[in-house]
Amino acid sequence: MKPLLEISNLVASIDEQPILKGMSLTLMPGEVHVIMGPNGAGKSTLAKLLAGDPDYDVNEGRLRLEDQDLLDLDPEERSHAGLFVSFQYPVEVPGVVYEQFLRAAYQAKGKAHGLPACSNEQFQRLLEEKLALLGMRGDFLSRGVNQGFSGGEKKRSEILQMALLEPKVAVLDETDSGLDIDAMRIVGEGVARLATEERSLLVITHYPRLLEWIVPTHVHVMLDGRIVHSGGAELAYELERSGYDRYQVAL
Ligand SMILES: Nc1ncnc2c1ncn2[C@@H]1O[C@H](COP(=O)(O)OP(=O)(O)OP(=O)(O)O)[C@@H](O)[C@H]1O
Ligand SMILES: [Mg+2]
Repeated sequence: MKPLLEISNLVASIDEQPILKGMSLTLMPGEVHVIMGPNGAGKSTLAKLLAGDPDYDVNEGRLRLEDQDLLDLDPEERSHAGLFVSFQYPVEVPGVVYEQFLRAAYQAKGKAHGLPACSNEQFQRLLEEKLALLGMRGDFLSRGVNQGFSGGEKKRSEILQMALLEPKVAVLDETDSGLDIDAMRIVGEGVARLATEERSLLVITHYPRLLEWIVPTHVHVMLDGRIVHSGGAELAYELERSGYDRYQVAL
């Protein structure tokens, strides 16, 4: 079996200030990796770099999605290649109706794969199917993208996007933050449903709460721009109990 995502010795900076300092991670199909680490460790920077944020300079290292070099692809091409990134702070796009945005994203991906365009009716049906699957109401679909969405609504809408685009690799940056109890269940169940044999998930989180729904195959501690320790699901609970002090000492 070949890896789906390979991050090799990634060194990246912003305004010449190094943030990622030799980050390596390999995701095989069916694996769920969790990254935990203190504020400022570089977790969101990694997510943004994977998505293709042009603000960050990659100084060294490689990023591969199956047999493609991600660094050669722009953000849209990365998405079409099967990468989905849910950001810690999803942006608002006023004036673009959410449903139209979802349809455009879905159609663009289909087109990139040489599929015929689906009709509005077909898309409507698909959308309703996904909403039902996730136990979500579609009341936010007629609003601008993330416009005035509450924190939890933004995170739920990211899960809907992911369910619709069916990526090979999904990176979720604190998709479990700021959710009420019901939204946590919706997001937890949604993520669990998407954790299939063919897909890999990279979940960035501060708390093991999401782990009630998905059991990670790997848990990593990220400190100062790199992974300093890895283990199984139990590591998440150990970190919750003991914090990061003992790993800081190891640096
Ligand atoms: N655009 C930027 N300009 C300047 N510094 C930045 C920028 N983006 C990230 N940084 C710095 O890089 C470091 C890592 O930030 P990042 O957002 O990746 O941390 P994080 O691990 O996601 O933290 P948190 O747990 O708080 O979300 C921080 O010190 C941050 O201030
Ligand atoms: Mg972050």
